[in-house]
Formats: sequence, structure tokens, C-alpha cells
Amino acid sequence: MDSNYNLSETDILVIKSILQNKKVEEIEGNKDSIINSARKLASLGIVEFNRTAIPKIVLTERGEEALKRGLPEVILFNFIKTNNKRDELEKSGLSKEEINAAIGVLTRGGFIKIDKDQIVILKDIDELNKKFEKLNEIKLNGIKNEYFDEFLKRGLIRIEEEEKINLTLTEEGKKIASNLGNLEGYVSNLNKEIIKNYKNYKFRAYDLNSTPYILYNGRNLVKYFIDEVRKIMFSLGFQEMSSNYVEEVFWNYDVMMFRQNHPDRDIQDTIYLDEKGDLDISLLERVKEVYLNGIKGLSFGYGGKFDESESSKLILRGHTTATTFRYLYYVISKNLDKNYRFFSVSKVFRNEAIDFKHLREFYQIEGMIYEDGLSVRSLIGYIKEFYKSLGIDKIQVKPTYNPYTEPSFEIIGFYDKINDWVEIGNSGMFRKETLYPLGINKNVAGFGLALERALMLKYGIDDIRLINGSESDLDIIRKYKAFKLW
Ligand code: PHE
Repeated sequence: MDSNYNLSETDILVIKSILQNKKVEEIEGNKDSIINSARKLASLGIVEFNRTAIPKIVLTERGEEALKRGLPEVILFNFIKTNNKRDELEKSGLSKEEINAAIGVLTRGGFIKIDKDQIVILKDIDELNKKFEKLNEIKLNGIKNEYFDEFLKRGLIRIEEEEKINLTLTEEGKKIASNLGNLEGYVSNLNKEIIKNYKNYKFRAYDLNSTPYILYNGRNLVKYFIDEVRKIMFSLGFQEMSSNYVEEVFWNYDVMMFRQNHPDRDIQDTIYLDEKGDLDISLLERVKEVYLNGIKGLSFGYGGKFDESESSKLILRGHTTATTFRYLYYVISKNLDKNYRFFSVSKVFRNEAIDFKHLREFYQIEGMIYEDGLSVRSLIGYIKEFYKSLGIDKIQVKPTYNPYTEPSFEIIGFYDKINDWVEIGNSGMFRKETLYPLGINKNVAGFGLALERALMLKYGIDDIRLINGSESDLDIIRKYKAFKLW
């Protein structure tokens, strides 16, 4: 190839389009690859890449509505022609708020006046019809007119920033462009046909010496933090549990004595899958027995019905306590004389509304302790020790309710950024009813801590969406130099 640059077909297309004065959005092809190519050309010094935000006037939902129905003042005016009683204006179909605003517009414009409980028409509303046309005009061409301020104030229009990307060729770019002929006609994407007839094609060379364009070099902060948490858990004597994201309803709920068809289960708005799993039927029967009738001499059970067909449904687990119960059954109940501390750091899924402290998928730090002489005190001791190792000191526990623990403790941490306490975890001693069907008859303590919340506390990040998920802020990753790999 005649050039030092290794230009792809898309790169050449972009350069040609700039020569033809085409705007980025006019270039045909996959938008993402065009933008990527433009970025690459910019990093090679071939094009200048400029973004500008161009303000554009658009109609709000209310504005669109007004175009469909008419402006509220026009609707009201026409209504008044047939019914001018002040306290019957709601029959016009407008809301109270709209009526008040419309009366304001009509009186200020001198179209009506209020005379005790009647409304008197003073002049016709041609002007207002003109206003309606002006709103339509804005919708059509997005340009300011004499009603701009009023429409804006009334929330009929808003200003949107439209991002435009402007590409120009640098001096270097112009040189390359004048020589495009030599670059064209090289194949960069191979397929079966091309390989078969390779003699008929010219291939784009790979430049093995080129330096890749490195946008950032860091580990995701969440991944880094997970390793830090794992190290602390190991140092506190915990072994790691392995687990799956998909669980049966049984392991997520039934085994923990969450009541079926009960708000207990709403805490974790569950994401159901279409399929069913396999269950250990004898365990299911034992759980069902305790669920319905309790433990003899200790409790009465919930009574009512237990629907076994519900239990085998597959879901995305809502908490990693499901894993704790699998380990209680498959490991601990088979080794009752040993002591165990287990943990996992893994994802859970809840169908929640996303905001600054909620995501639909997030990490839980799960812990479980099975050892002689275990008490509530040691449970809280482990939790405090864990946070202390992370450098988080302002922790408190307060009583709470869980269907599967008694007593239960919510863990709250002081969040400097909002100067308030936020929930960062939950814990407790598992109820006898949850352990009995597994054949366990000693105290077991458990906790579930919110990983992203701990991270936010530690690093002073005030929005969970910035560190995990599609809106993550890459600058946060870059900021923590410690995470640089090279
Ligand atoms: N599963 C609980 C949660 O999701 C945490 C927890 C674990 C509570 C173990 C008690 C015992 O919040």
C-alpha cells in the first residue's frame, strides 16, 4: 500500500464524503462505524472532529396536546359562548389548572371579563387563532417567533440541544484525499467468496507496527472493589461460595419461609424465566410440612395452602441468600460437626425503578457463619470488622423484619455526601423453621451487604448509575490511577 495509514473502506468513505461537503448524518452506512472511523481519522490527525450542540425548539407533550385539541384558552372561550357560568367551567373538559391559566390569558388579552359568577365576552378571538398557527409554525420549522417567550413559559415548547458533528480535513488529510485513488479498491472485510477468488482482489495490509489508540487503561472500579472485598472476607476466615444467577423459586423464597402470595415476596420484585428447574423432592416436602404446620412443640406454621408447582419455577435470583441455603443444605447439613464461614460476592436482580441508589442488577456481599458459640454479638462484630477493613467506620445496626431471620438487623452507614444514614445491608440469625427441614439445629448467622453502596461510601460517589451499568462514567475509572494496568 502506498500510504502509512491503514485506512479501511469506511475511512475512505468518510474522507470522500468530507470532500463532497456532506454532513456526517448524510453519510450512508452504519452510524456507529462512521463515527468510530471519524474518531480514528481524528486520532491520526487526518480530520478535525468538532462537536457542537445546536439548540432546537421543539414542542413539549403539552404543546403537542394543544395542537391536537386546540389551545386551552380557545377551548374555554368556545365553551363560554354556550355556558358562561363561572362555576361550570369544568364541564369544558379542561383541568382546573388549565382553566385558571386560560382565564388568565383571556382576561389579560381583554377577551373576557369576570362579572361576579358570570363570564362576559368582550371581543372575538381571532388573535388567539393566530397564536395557534404560530405554535404549529414552531413545530414545523423550529424557529423563534413573537410568541416564543409565552410558549416557553407555558411549557408548550422546550429547547433541545441537537448534537452536530462537524468534520473537516487537516492539511495532512487534504494530502491523503488528493491521493485517494491509490487507497481505494482494497478489501478489508473477508468473506468466503473473496477468499475463494483471492487472486482477483487487492487486500488492505495489516500494519503490525502501528500503536493502538488507547482510550483508557483501567480496571472497572467495581471489579477492583470486588477483589478488595474478597480479600477482606478471606482475611476474616471466610471461604467463597460459587453460585448461579438463575435459581428456583424454592431456593430464593420457599426454603426461607417467605409466604407464597404474600407481600413478603414483593420486597424483591422478581424476574421470572419461562422454564422450570429440578428440585430435591424430599427436601421440598420437609419445607412444605414446616411451612404449613410449623415445628412440633415450637411453632404452628402458616397453615393454608402451599403450591408446589410454584417452587420449581426459575427466576433471576433476588438475593444471594439462595446460595447460602444451598450451602447450608449441600455442605453444612452433611458436616454438622465442623465450623464454617462462607461468603460470596455476586450479582442479584430485582425489577426496581432505577435511581441514584437503585439498579436492577447489583452485587451483594453475602456472608454466613456456622460455628460453636455463635451469637448476635459475633454477627455484628464480623460486619463491623468488615466495614472497618474497608475504611468505613460510621456504621449502625437497627432492628428490622425479614421472613427468614429472627432477630434481624438492618445495617446503615453514614453517607457524608448527603449527610444522612443510608441502608447498606441486612442481617440476622436464621429462623429455626428455615434450618429444621435441612437438618440443622445450631445457630446460623447471615448477612447481605450492598456492594455498590459500600463503594459509594468509600469513594464518595453520589450516584450508583455512574459506577455500574450502561451509564457508567469512564472518567471515574480513569480517575483512580491505582487501577492503571500499565
Ligand atoms: N437477603 C437479605 C437481602 O437481600 C440480606 C440477608 C442475608 C439478611 C442473610 C439476613 C440474612 O437484603
